[in-house]
Amino acid sequence: MNVPLLDLNRQYDSIKDEIDEAIQEVVDSQYFILGPAVEKFEEEVADYCGVKHAIGVASGTDAIKLALQAVGIGEGEDDKVITSPFTYFATAGSIVNAGAEPVFVDIKPDTFNLDPVALEELLTTNHSLQTEAKAIVPVHLYGQMADMDEIMEVADEYDLAVIEDAAQAIGAEYRTESGHVASGQWPVDGTEGKLASDDENSSLNEFPQATGNEQQAYKAGSIGHAGCFSFFPTKNLGGYGDGGMVTTDDDELAEKVRMLRLHGSKEKYFNEMVGHNSRLDALQAAVLSAKLPHLDEWSQRRRENAKKYNERLADVEGITTPVVEDDRNHIYHQYTIRVGDGKRDGLQQDLNENGVGNKIYYPLSLHQQGCFEYLGYEEGDLPVSEKAAEEVISLPAFPELKDEEIEYVCGVIAT
Ligand SMILES: Cc1ncc(COP(=O)(O)O)c(C=O)c1O
Repeated sequence: MNVPLLDLNRQYDSIKDEIDEAIQEVVDSQYFILGPAVEKFEEEVADYCGVKHAIGVASGTDAIKLALQAVGIGEGEDDKVITSPFTYFATAGSIVNAGAEPVFVDIKPDTFNLDPVALEELLTTNHSLQTEAKAIVPVHLYGQMADMDEIMEVADEYDLAVIEDAAQAIGAEYRTESGHVASGQWPVDGTEGKLASDDENSSLNEFPQATGNEQQAYKAGSIGHAGCFSFFPTKNLGGYGDGGMVTTDDDELAEKVRMLRLHGSKEKYFNEMVGHNSRLDALQAAVLSAKLPHLDEWSQRRRENAKKYNERLADVEGITTPVVEDDRNHIYHQYTIRVGDGKRDGLQQDLNENGVGNKIYYPLSLHQQGCFEYLGYEEGDLPVSEKAAEEVISLPAFPELKDEEIEYVCGVIAT
């Protein structure tokens, strides 16, 4: 049997008429860049994420860069931005392209997300960083949100902007009592945005543990000062090309991102700053609008697939299945297991030989990338991230995966 890591044809087959019609409408309109289809999709994403503004840009990479620039990153000569070393390269690449230096903080071994204790420790002990650090970019890796309460608290203490890298986490939720939403340097004028728990669709989002009424669920991209999404085709909400989005409750920040995506102009041919060409195109927006109503159901199916894997792999020696925090709702952009005792590469070979799609996200911690040698990190500096790079492997978990395929994958792993 061959089991692909992801089969987008199955998704297209299930909604072909909706997609074809959406594309045809854009072709008929001959309006290809920004315009009504993009505005409609922006409103839908703002509503879905529970924020005031959603601004369509050319990619997730640009979303991070533009959001950082919109909060002033790159204006100072020594600006530093703190992030996770265990993420796709774009997170740190965007920090550099925004004009700052990345500073890596190690991750938690169970969820692979930025460790808030290590974050606090670094800021407490590194006095120059206290003035040079301007922002934190937490990454909601694999589809589970980072420890946002703790991260927002540290950000408040040190006056840092928080730009969520939610590229892998659209629709993921975080329950909190704190109401700690984008306070600090960029106050939201008392407009907290719509709670994800107000959304009738969120009944689809089961939390692993029942939570008290006083807690509210916030969607990824609605807690920090801005959230950044990718619509790369393989994402849970994927376009038919590149695309990205910045979400925020802050009017001023939203306006800056809108200008930055259009060469720094509010009014065409009048430029107040030097920006970029980073516009979402109408074909992507139309495809994504057609897909968005299906997203929660797709995420639910991913969760069901994860549950089946968890049960089947529970007793397989040396394998650790994903850990989901009690107050969080995973959307399983990736179903990623840990394989201990140096056995990961052998398992990958078995999977490859038996036709099972798989991928290692990510084989090298970012502080060890050649392009970041100038930052001066050494092997052993971020041990949790380095170990994760040696042990993780992602398995097929896409919504249309069949039970017999999961069974087959587990059989290959167990033998
Ligand atoms: C964590 C993370 N950040 C940023 C990006 C960049 O998004 P894009 O590929 O749309 O530029 C991606 C996806 O590719 C990602 O997974």
